[in-house]
Amino acid sequence: MQYSDKVIEHFSNPHNVGEIENASGVGTVGNAKCGDIMRIYLDIDEDTKIIKDCKFKTFGCGAAIATSSMATDMVIGKTIYEAMEVTNKAVMEALDGLPPVKVHCSLLAEESIHAALWDYCKKHNVDIPGLKEPK
Ligand code: FES
Ligand code: FES
Repeated sequence: MQYSDKVIEHFSNPHNVGEIENASGVGTVGNAKCGDIMRIYLDIDEDTKIIKDCKFKTFGCGAAIATSSMATDMVIGKTIYEAMEVTNKAVMEALDGLPPVKVHCSLLAEESIHAALWDYCKKHNVDIPGLKEPK
């Protein structure tokens, strides 16, 4: 299996690992295909709606860890609305691709970010266009 240098780099030295105490939103998603789990914590500025910090915990394969690392990097500094642009496709592109059998791993990052945004929206009565309730 061929992994890109960027995937190996993010897997070997993942960014934003950990938890955020009193996070604005938390999302946990399980991958139906492999049973792996990812949890995302968001720290959101109440006024600007900018994601000030994002951390993750992943029980999963190397590709899941690399995508979490990249996806959390990509949402930090964005507003909650702009964070919707961080799709699994965008994350995979930023990582210079993933082997086809590992594409499902990248879904975890998108889904858990959406779940954390949903959690935030529910608590704060905010609406993000295009955001759907997590399954
Ligand atoms: Fe769980 Fe990939 S199947 S680590
Ligand atoms: Fe389970 Fe990658 S094999 S997330």
